[in-house]
Amino acid sequence: MTVDIRVPFLDLAPPHQEIRSELLDAMTRVLDSNRFVLGHEVEVFESAWAKYCDVAHAVGIGNGLDALHLILRAIGVGPGDEVIVPANTFIATWLAVTMCGATPVPVEPNPETFNIDPRLIRDAVTSRTKAIIAVHLYGQPADLDELIAVSTELGLSLVEDAAQAHGALYKGKRIGGHGVAAAWSFYPGKNLGALGDGGAVTTNDPELAEKVRLLRNYGSPAKYQHAVQGVNSRLDELQAAVLLEKLKVLDEWNGRRASIAEAYTTALKLLLDEEEVLGASRVLSLPIVPSWAKPVWHLYVIRVAQRDDFVSYLSAQGIETSIHYPIPPASQAAYKDLAIGAKSGFSDRTAGELVSLPIGPHLNQEQVACVLAACRNFFGGSRASKRVRGNGSEINLWV
Ligand SMILES: Cc1ncc(COP(=O)(O)O)c(C=O)c1O
Repeated sequence: MTVDIRVPFLDLAPPHQEIRSELLDAMTRVLDSNRFVLGHEVEVFESAWAKYCDVAHAVGIGNGLDALHLILRAIGVGPGDEVIVPANTFIATWLAVTMCGATPVPVEPNPETFNIDPRLIRDAVTSRTKAIIAVHLYGQPADLDELIAVSTELGLSLVEDAAQAHGALYKGKRIGGHGVAAAWSFYPGKNLGALGDGGAVTTNDPELAEKVRLLRNYGSPAKYQHAVQGVNSRLDELQAAVLLEKLKVLDEWNGRRASIAEAYTTALKLLLDEEEVLGASRVLSLPIVPSWAKPVWHLYVIRVAQRDDFVSYLSAQGIETSIHYPIPPASQAAYKDLAIGAKSGFSDRTAGELVSLPIGPHLNQEQVACVLAACRNFFGGSRASKRVRGNGSEINLWV
């Protein structure tokens, strides 16, 4: 294996190149329509996205953070309220809560799936708790039936943060309609990404959809009438037109991610089987997918005891990695004034071990093989390589 192959963690140029003419046509259509905010493209995208997610309503929003924030406002979360959030998530999940003047209450994840552990929620609930936000972290659905059961029992609203999980299936059904509403981000690097910021809310509740529509547009039911103090957070026509094109390839691109994830898991599992090869100091854990989940592999996150050495080793081979997330929200300076007792929990303890391998429609087979060769060399040296080859376990992508 030559070492001069570069493996970027994320590179939008190759996938965009594949649909370049469709994207240019879509953008030209908007230019020629002379309508740039809340027009035909947004309406068509909202219908297409609702249909894809198998829900009654989709509302285009300016970004994923606002989508979450507006859901919380629409269900009446405000100052003095508490909202259960995962201890390990991107900070936007927490910011949406504090933007409403409410307090985020962290709950640790199931250590196998990294998604919020429904069994720990009851202990975090108080008389002030209004809602639970479940994040489908890394593209894998959270344990929705258990979350629905606990939220129903406690009289709480269940909100899905689906920013990383476009197209993921829970027990065969697309996510986005399991709770009261779901928030989506179309940030460029997401599985369905715009060419700038974008977001959406999906819901089966017509009243909630209407409230979010009002809130996203200055609280305005008609021009220069303002029923509530809304915000300006609208998906724009250009992004909606781009998203309509990219929606056509979402399943195919998610399929490529799944093939890469399978190749990683198959090859890395062989290293794990080789216990004597993986000494205690080089512990590696792989993503675990419950039987009811079909993830979309926004990220492929592993745990490596010697994480920083591993990252440096891959970097020297031209392989970029990333960390999701190096500092949990509770330990961020932004939340230093919040008296949160969850620090030093699982999320804090494992933050130093997490590492995300490159995954996405931009990668080719050679690049994936290059990542695996580097992993084998780091963890097992030549003995593990022989074992991998000896098992006849060829990496075979996109067959
Ligand atoms: C879990 C999660 N929630 C919310 C967001 C916020 O989305 P956006 O960046 O579009 O505001 C993101 C994306 O970055 C995310 O990963």
